[in-house]
Amino acid sequence: MLDRKRAEEAFNTYTAKYDQGNTLIWLKVVHTFKVAENCDRIGMSLRLEGDDADLAWLVGLLHDFGRFEQVRRFNTFSDAASVDHAELGADLLFHEGFIKEYVPDNMPEETLRMLETAIRLHNKLALPEGLDERTQLFCNIIRDADKSDIFRVITELPLEQRIGSSKNAFTEADEASPEIMERVMEHRCVPRAMKHTRFELHISHCCMAFEVVFPESRRIIKEQGFLEKLLLGCDEEGNPMWNEREMAQLAIVRREIHDAWDSKGLQ
Ligand SMILES: [Fe+2]
Repeated sequence: MLDRKRAEEAFNTYTAKYDQGNTLIWLKVVHTFKVAENCDRIGMSLRLEGDDADLAWLVGLLHDFGRFEQVRRFNTFSDAASVDHAELGADLLFHEGFIKEYVPDNMPEETLRMLETAIRLHNKLALPEGLDERTQLFCNIIRDADKSDIFRVITELPLEQRIGSSKNAFTEADEASPEIMERVMEHRCVPRAMKHTRFELHISHCCMAFEVVFPESRRIIKEQGFLEKLLLGCDEEGNPMWNEREMAQLAIVRREIHDAWDSKGLQ
């Protein structure tokens, strides 16, 4: 049996060792608990039973384990400018042995491998072919739960505050490239190499909505309303945050996401 309370305490003890004065650290602590909550909700909607319900929650708690070392070493959340935080987290947990603090001693090897894979793959553009059914299920749960909270983080915090030292990697706003708009029309996520401007980064975040898998995740995202705010591209006073050409492109992205979601429904 997995002990959620013990796992939560282990996580709090681990993160307390990092610089609490650094915004990036507390940002990830808050994000972690929200994602774990989303995982829990998605798991319940899928009627996961027994340990599986707790495991879904645990993948949420541990998915960004590597973020804390990433910030300590590089002071950024940009994987491109530092390390792949999912790989780093999985290495720490499963190669360095941190996972022992979170799971019972008798956890089957197969379940540990499933957890490791779900953490390693949570940030990849797409899942590889050939995953077994259970692993694929947990991969999809964490990827959906993570996306759901990323819309909140992006809405609530300016780029400067949420990315760290790599904020200058993106140039000032400009229209998104035709390749990116092609991805929008295909209803697919945008690969990292295609993003060069802040506006392209903004669009790529919105496009994550195309690949949300479970109806419950779409329900969470709709309820929260953060994605819709990003798609409208206006500040608190209702003023456009992008130039006219960009706002026109954003309207296309919004239309395509609404169409894609309407065709899938919430059930
Ligand atoms: Fe992550």
